[in-house]
Amino acid sequence: MPPPRVELRAVSKTYRDQGQPVEVLHQVSLAAETGTVTALLGRSGCGKTTLLNLAGAMDFASSGEVLIDGRSTASLNEGELTALRRRRVGFVFQFFQLLPTLTVLENVELPLLLARTPKARDTARDRLCWVGLEEKAASLPYQLSGGQMQRVAIARALVHSPDVLIADEPTGNLDTASGDQVLALIRESAARFGATVLMATHSAEAAAIAGIRVHLRDGRIQTIERA
Ligand SMILES: Nc1ncnc2c1ncn2[C@@H]1O[C@H](COP(=O)(O)OP(=O)(O)OP(=O)(O)O)[C@@H](O)[C@H]1O
Ligand SMILES: [Mg+2]
Repeated sequence: MPPPRVELRAVSKTYRDQGQPVEVLHQVSLAAETGTVTALLGRSGCGKTTLLNLAGAMDFASSGEVLIDGRSTASLNEGELTALRRRRVGFVFQFFQLLPTLTVLENVELPLLLARTPKARDTARDRLCWVGLEEKAASLPYQLSGGQMQRVAIARALVHSPDVLIADEPTGNLDTASGDQVLALIRESAARFGATVLMATHSAEAAAIAGIRVHLRDGRIQTIERA
């Protein structure tokens, strides 16, 4: 088995709330495997989004270490962090976060333009085909259904073939049929692109596609269950 691409070692996270420190993750250790969907489950406020932000190098642990490919995210300089976030990690959110004034194709292309990747438009089109929305390339986000918006967001997240895909309640705003389509794409991201997927969810359907299910409670891992 290859070494885990994303690993948390005894990670704690403390936020400041009105000046008072509040620890919301306590000594969490977890290894997310390559080509596997790892689901983070647990009640609202248990720390799922906090953990995802750490795993995607958007935020840093208060103690302990987050390793991506064996390197601690806290040890990277600004340039290395930017490169990591832009090229190696893809993000999918509950509220899609598409840019409203860009077309569907431009939304998908944007990460490649920022990373100055050649053939950006061709790759963006290819990903749009993959999510079955090539005919919506010239549409604006408001002209799409929620399910279609999330498929565009997935195309965008995967446009640079990231090693790590972070999905925070990707089906939270979708009906069952749209949610199922999105979950099929997320599962395929792991299977076909070999992405290491970390997904926070409240949905049993979403949890069912995961190879590993991590149950969190009050910022601690309660159980880790393999499918
Ligand atoms: N930036 C912040 N500053 C202060 N406290 C925060 C911050 N972000 C989150 N918290 C607190 O940390 C705890 C964990 O929040 P988190 O968003 O990780 O939970 P969650 O499991 O994702 O919940 P949900 O299922 O509702 O999305 C909560 O008590 C929350 O209020
Ligand atoms: Mg959350």
